[in-house]
Amino acid sequence: RNLPAEPELPAGTLEALRAEAAVCTRCPLHANATQTVFGEGPRDAAVMFVGEQPGDQEDIAGRPFVGPAGRLFDQVIAEAGIDRSTLYVTNAVKHFKYEPRGKRRIHQKPNMGEVQHCRWWLDLELTLVNPKLIVAMGATALAALTDVKGRLQDVRGKAMATEGGRTLFVTVHPSYLLRIPDERLKAEEMARFREDMKRIQGLM
Ligand code: URA
Repeated sequence: RNLPAEPELPAGTLEALRAEAAVCTRCPLHANATQTVFGEGPRDAAVMFVGEQPGDQEDIAGRPFVGPAGRLFDQVIAEAGIDRSTLYVTNAVKHFKYEPRGKRRIHQKPNMGEVQHCRWWLDLELTLVNPKLIVAMGATALAALTDVKGRLQDVRGKAMATEGGRTLFVTVHPSYLLRIPDERLKAEEMARFREDMKRIQGLM
């Protein structure tokens, strides 16, 4: 009867949204993940970066882009003169999807149903943060952010106007770069990614 009241978070804030997302069961992915990995960054960030889904390390830390892809991301944006603390960084899907293999958890690509379910959160993050520039990293982020069908390479590296008066910039996902086995191709793709980040810095 005399239980202390839960502190009420003001409705319609990013903090309230994060608290709601922490108990999300909209799709089955929550069942095997450690926790929801919600976006992070200033509530009034001018730029939002969107990845695919948390990986193994993000799942444990509860923060986006802190594993190998995150370290590459940090390094390349820093070289381009972008300060991560000014960015809102999030993912299309907020739970880690994986297949257990021995002691390892192998990342599995989210399917379109999972991406559509999780759009609920991404759309609300977009509404609340209201960035002027959105950066989609990879095809999953692109699919979550637009209805554009087609190949990532057709829209990659272009700044496109979106309905809400925002700009959408599409680039590859840093995990893609980490997986390229051929050293020469990898160097070329890294150079293109660095160029993209410099272009983004110019749009900020
Ligand atoms: N890959 C992503 O898409 N997001 C993360 O947070 C980490 C790796």
